[in-house]
Amino acid sequence: MSTTTIAADRPGNADPAITPFTVTFLIRRFDPEVDEEPRWQDFDVEMYATDRVLDALHKIKWEQDGSLTFRRSCAHGICGSDAMRINGRNRLACKTLIKDLDISKPIYVEAIKGLPLEKDLIVDMEPFFASFREVQPFLIANKAPEGGKERIQTVAQRERFDDTTKCILCAACTSSCPVFWTDGQYFGPAAIVNAHRFIFDSRDEDAKVRLDILNDKEGVWRCRTTFNCSEACPRGIQVTQAIAEVKQAIMRGKP
Ligand code: SF4
Ligand code: F3S
Ligand code: FES
Repeated sequence: MSTTTIAADRPGNADPAITPFTVTFLIRRFDPEVDEEPRWQDFDVEMYATDRVLDALHKIKWEQDGSLTFRRSCAHGICGSDAMRINGRNRLACKTLIKDLDISKPIYVEAIKGLPLEKDLIVDMEPFFASFREVQPFLIANKAPEGGKERIQTVAQRERFDDTTKCILCAACTSSCPVFWTDGQYFGPAAIVNAHRFIFDSRDEDAKVRLDILNDKEGVWRCRTTFNCSEACPRGIQVTQAIAEVKQAIMRGKP
């Protein structure tokens, strides 16, 4: 393994935006067909300061080891498929710039925690999506709208759930939650965020059902206000605040 120092690679006043330098990545690999346990593997990659960790993973896969396995789709922070632990913090690889990391040391990249590891940086997301589906994350509006046309909403009513509409289901929050790590039974912050999005929507008619679902022993009351979820969210959603609002709505018996 070579840990090339950045200073050595950036002569004089070289502009790091246009001068490549070597960065060492330590990636936690796991191939279920050959490995009994995950193992760390190092890769040296030529990078620019403005590159992202996703660019490094692409370079490794395309130029060094085609077996490296990870998920990504949009590459622009929209699809939510490339959440991973980068230097111990949950982030999207496509939104993490090399210049924002301490590149004088190796950069550690591993799969998110708390979900079954499938291969390298890929986990089985099914338990995560099962909790998401359970909170009924869709508009339930059976009654005909007043006047028979539109379900009118004021700006203030729309504002009430604006923050939680931004979720991209990346699982960075749920997989950073120590309560979720304990047994995987807790609904987790992402499911609560997506319930919040409909509980506080004035057009929705079934908030009570969702509040009952989350008033479960594996629901909102398991949250210990750790704030890891809010810190991890790449969309800046106030996740812990949303959970607190759902708790208050349960106590009131309505949104
Ligand atoms: Fe990802 Fe944020 Fe949604 Fe959690 S709340 S799944 S961290 S976008
Ligand atoms: Fe977990 Fe977030 Fe609560 S990290 S304990 S869901 S504040
Ligand atoms: Fe889509 Fe990163 S690849 S969010």
